[in-house]
Amino acid sequence: MAEMVVASNRGPVQFEVDDDGNLTSGRGAGGMVAALGPALAGQAGTWVAAAISEGDRVAARRVARSGRLRTVELEQGTVRLRSLVIDPREYQSYYNRVSNRTIWFLQHYLFDVPRHPRFDRGFQLAWRHYESVNRAFAAACDDEAHRGGDVFVQDYHLALAPAMLRERRPDLGIAHFTHCPWADPDYFAMLPSRVAAAVLEGMLGADLLGFLVPRWARNFLRCCREAGFRMDPQGGTVQAADGRTVTVRAYPLGVDGDDLRARVAKVDAQVQQRAVTELARGRFLIVRVDRMELSKNILRGLEGYGMFLERNPRVRGRVVHYALAYASRRDLPEYQAYTAEVKHAAEAINERFRTRTWEPVVLELKDNYPRALAAMAMADVLLVNPVWDGMNLVAKEGPAVSRRDAVLILSRNAGAADDLGDGALVVNPFDTAELAEAFATAMAMPADERAKRASLLREGASALPPQDWFAAQRDDLAALRA
Ligand code: G6P
Repeated sequence: MAEMVVASNRGPVQFEVDDDGNLTSGRGAGGMVAALGPALAGQAGTWVAAAISEGDRVAARRVARSGRLRTVELEQGTVRLRSLVIDPREYQSYYNRVSNRTIWFLQHYLFDVPRHPRFDRGFQLAWRHYESVNRAFAAACDDEAHRGGDVFVQDYHLALAPAMLRERRPDLGIAHFTHCPWADPDYFAMLPSRVAAAVLEGMLGADLLGFLVPRWARNFLRCCREAGFRMDPQGGTVQAADGRTVTVRAYPLGVDGDDLRARVAKVDAQVQQRAVTELARGRFLIVRVDRMELSKNILRGLEGYGMFLERNPRVRGRVVHYALAYASRRDLPEYQAYTAEVKHAAEAINERFRTRTWEPVVLELKDNYPRALAAMAMADVLLVNPVWDGMNLVAKEGPAVSRRDAVLILSRNAGAADDLGDGALVVNPFDTAELAEAFATAMAMPADERAKRASLLREGASALPPQDWFAAQRDDLAALRA
């Protein structure tokens, strides 16, 4: 049992079984793991996560037989992992249908509204599975947490778990953190009212609700008000149905610059830097690093780049767009279609502009962390243009590791724009003409201005590194309980 338990759908590592039946492991994908990994490494605590891949299930069964928890090695230290094996059908509806296709789409305004969402009988069944997986997480946290301990529940997959856990264990301190944006009340109200109420009531089972930036916290508070909860927007509190006061606060997550720079200095990332230099061949290098994700706005990024080449014939042959977009949520038809469109858009630019010696776009779909770090280190421009994004850690990792004072082109709808707005070229993510101009501005920017902006970006990026970000939540939870 542990004094501190963290619960999230995705765990810090993902296991794969190789051809000989041996287990290999790699880093879990996405911003949530990137934040929590360094925050928790080396701390006494247990991380409860779902067994997602077949390798995760094999790994979970092996430790279950031994009756112990698995200790996993992260870059920054070790963590203890409790892996939950969930019935595959239930997991599929909880993860794909409800978490990713409904709540994620909702919080990022991704619905193709004339057609979706449709809350039919299939959704109702999926919702019951979402409830039961949340219940399984609450039971596992109950199992793992010490009397009077603290539990930190993560993200939209586990919106119901805080209230379920409180019912089982009123002795615990409970916090919940949302790693994505929160939509405004009108959009949020697209959910069936029973489901919207359950999400809010579930989260309000916590003592402390964390968001990445004040805008998302404000939207959450407004949703609570619309749903009839008493709330105090100034104090950032909501009164839960049982009369408890729940605190709602923003914790603007940053990166640990020293840590990342040490990581880039390692041999594997150095080897990749040589590969990236070879790819660029002295050309102006525009980099993006994302999951292949609808909210990341990869298509409009390519469109803006194509327009930039079209309008500026003189830059042709002198610039390369290296777009890293590694596969994500491949079971969803929307993601399959998006991947195909992205490949097609990249190919269309290449077909139109390529020469015998120049390939304008290089699209990379394989997940390779050292390669991604190397690309960020060598970039002249880092493009981060999400339609909406809770924070976007790439926007902060890039400046931390940049060796070339990279210009950051940043969507105003990323939470990161709050911290990096002074140093970045901030754009409207829907305006591809503006993006094309931003590429031209970046390419023409004098070295001293690049340096000035890069220093502002480095400062903004490391304002609240993961360990401090997590410590702030721990301290606040302790203060609220005292
Ligand atoms: C975002 C979410 C995380 C999620 C990650 C990767 O960062 O906030 O909760 O883990 O994306 O997505 P995936 O569906 O692969 O876990």
